This record gives sequence, structure tokens and C-alpha cells, in this order.
Amino acid sequence: MTIPRIFMYGAGNVGSSCAAVLECRHMGRITLYDIIDDVAIGQAMDINQTAPFWDSDSKVVGTNSIEDMKQADVVVVTAGAPRKEGMSREDLLKSNLSVIHEIGEAVDKYCPKAFVLVVSNPVDVLTWYLKDTWPDMNVVGLGCCLDSMRFRYFLAESLRVSVHATDGMVIGTHNDDMVPLIKHASAGGLPAIKQMDADTAAKIIRRTKEGGTAIVKRLKTRSGFFAAGTATAQVVEAVIRNKQGLFPVSVTTRGEYGYKGICMSLPAVIGERGVQRIVDIDLDKEERGFLDICATKMQETIDKIKKR
Ligand code: 2OP
Repeated sequence: MTIPRIFMYGAGNVGSSCAAVLECRHMGRITLYDIIDDVAIGQAMDINQTAPFWDSDSKVVGTNSIEDMKQADVVVVTAGAPRKEGMSREDLLKSNLSVIHEIGEAVDKYCPKAFVLVVSNPVDVLTWYLKDTWPDMNVVGLGCCLDSMRFRYFLAESLRVSVHATDGMVIGTHNDDMVPLIKHASAGGLPAIKQMDADTAAKIIRRTKEGGTAIVKRLKTRSGFFAAGTATAQVVEAVIRNKQGLFPVSVTTRGEYGYKGICMSLPAVIGERGVQRIVDIDLDKEERGFLDICATKMQETIDKIKKR
């Protein structure tokens, strides 16, 4: 059996946390790459030394040679500047656009058939850029997968139930405009909204939207990474194990939900090779209105990039 090859482009906090989760979930051969000296090599050593506890035979190999990307099945992009206190994810666009271009060139050269998962911010815009520049690239963004994890955590906390009992999804763009689908969330298979009052619902939505910012505010010079790394690993696992998991990854739309040529998070079935299909659900007027705001702003950003 061939062992899947996962190439982590960036050995910063998010990339390394994701590699650590992949390793403990026994997920194939993981190459952790960074341009900065021996950082990836050191992080890989550290992660490998956790293996006895996980009973894992997966290996993380650290490298600063981009050629090690050759024949990767999955490429996870976490490189680029992270948010600092007071910055929005969009503030990163200028610096991370050139980084993503270089990464696109490398994927195109070394492993054009790989499934590419973009995590770097602003994730929806960077995902759109890759797909627009290399239309054949099999690329999606982590989008609102991380926000959905946070959403479930806050649901569980507010309802005082196990996180296992909760389900819920956030769609739209991975920024302040994201749309936590509170009316569709569940706890124990029952509508969560019927188990809380309006103030609680509003608080869960607010905490979800501000989840990332609340962490940056405290870490000051970097953004959160444990949940981001874990959410990333969840999507990689769905691909490697062909799980048919349902995740709100960021996809370039071709008419889904009425949007064309923009990138945003929509419910997608993820399995071998990535997106199997987009799931269409009925949104009410309010939800549709919020999603339209995401779409309009995304289109404006795309227009600006195209004018450059
Ligand atoms: C977050 O929301 C890093 O964008 C990421 O924490």
C-alpha cells in the first residue's frame, strides 16, 4: 500500500501543530518544510519524540529543501505572516499574496496533481488567487472549518453538554462577516436553538465571530494555532482516509448558492482527492443576506487584486 505523502509548507505554529496532530493520528509520511534555517528540522524532531505515547509509526521529516515537495499527495499551506494584535486577516493580504504566488509556482512545478489546502490568511482570498492563477490546481481553503470548531465548542459550553453532542457549521468568509448557522446547529440531535434563549444564541454567534481576534488580543504578536492546526488536520484526514466528511472549506464557486468566481466557505463533502460535492441547503432570508455580504466583499477584494 502506498503511504500518503503530506507536505506542510510552513513550520510555524499552525503548520507544526497540524503536523503533530497528523502524527498522533498515524497519518502517513509528513514532510515539514520551512525556509528558515533548521526550524522545520527541529520541530520535526520534537514531534517525532511524542510517537511512543501515540503508538504512532508516522514520521515527520523536517526540511528546508523545496524539492522535497516532489510527488506530495497533499500540500498544506501555512506559510506567511500571521496576524498581530489590532490587525485584521485582510491586513495580511499584501504580504501574503507574494508568498502564495511562490507557493503556487512550487506546487505547479513539483506536484501539480496534489490536493492543496490553504490555511494562511486571508484564506479565502489566497485560495481564490491560486485557483485563478492555476485553474487546474486542486485547491481549497480551510475557510470556516476552524470557526465551526469554535462554534461547536461555544455551543457545548453554553448548553452545558459534551462537545460530542453538538453539531454546527459556519459558512461564508473567514473574517468578521462569517455566518454561524445557529438555526441549523444541534445538540444531541435536537435543534440547539430550541434549547437556549435569544441572548445565549447572540452570545454564541459573537464569540464564534470574535474567536480568533480574542486569542490574538492576548497572544499579541501571533494568532491562535492549536485549534487552527487541529481543524487543518481534520480536513487532511478526511482526504487521506476518504472519509466523506462534511466541512465548510473555502471553494471557488461555479454557481453554487448563486455565486460565481469567488471563494468562500460552503458545506462540502471531503474525501479522496478533496471536494466530492457541495451540499446545497435552504437558507432563510436573514442567513442569505449575511452570506450575500460575504460574497459582495469578496468580489470587491477580487476586483481590487485584478486591477493591480
Ligand atoms: C484564527 O482565526 C488564525 O485565522 C486564524 O485564529
